[in-house]
Amino acid sequence: MANDQEKEAAARASLRFVKDGQIVGLGTGSTAAYFIQLLGDAVKTGLRIRGIPTSVRSGEQAASLGIPLTTLDECPEIDVTVDGADEVDPELRLIKGGGGALLREKIVASATKQLVIVADASKRVPVLGRFPLPVEVIKFAQAVVAKKIKALGAKVSLRRGPDGKPYLTDENNYILDCRFERIPDADGLARQLSDMPGVVEHGLFIGMASVVLIANGSEIVELRRGNEGSHDKNLTRGAR
Ligand code: 5RP
Repeated sequence: MANDQEKEAAARASLRFVKDGQIVGLGTGSTAAYFIQLLGDAVKTGLRIRGIPTSVRSGEQAASLGIPLTTLDECPEIDVTVDGADEVDPELRLIKGGGGALLREKIVASATKQLVIVADASKRVPVLGRFPLPVEVIKFAQAVVAKKIKALGAKVSLRRGPDGKPYLTDENNYILDCRFERIPDADGLARQLSDMPGVVEHGLFIGMASVVLIANGSEIVELRRGNEGSHDKNLTRGAR
């Protein structure tokens, strides 16, 4: 099954986590865009929710579909957020930020009771790090932070847009894409990055995802974090 079909299937499976009357965080990226599209369809047929987007473009998509929007100022507690990921490891640690929205995504995730991650099968990895880790930095600090991250063993590049100019986030910062290949101690790296002056946020999301829905071919696999570690539940067996 092509990635796009898997992305849509995972997004569709996440709809059952959204209940009438809830405040819903709207993720960013191609998989989250499928979710927003499907949520728009549900709103048209009577679902009453209010959305909080994690990026300008997700907000624009939601508004174009007639999804009522609110803000963290009005609603600082979010019931459920559905978002994508670039990598997911067995402990449901994530790399996010491939789409450049990691800062708002992490703030929304931190304000969310239930973070549901939707992804195609290519995102599931035994160890994080194959995907370059996005690190959002203030412009003034980019060279200093890049040097420090290189010293940790990564190949670091400043993200650029299609016009060749440095990519600017919704908060007007830069992104350093940091290729580690393997991040065996994600918790330790997260602490090191957070301690660097000039780093606004990094794309390691640790202990945040409640549920991960992975579409693998025609199957949806549900992963949850538990005391004994994550476990798989194949949702395609039985009723589906
Ligand atoms: C955006 C993100 C996205 O959720 C992540 O990049 C996955 O994107 P896609 O669903 O397009 O593969 O973190 O900042």
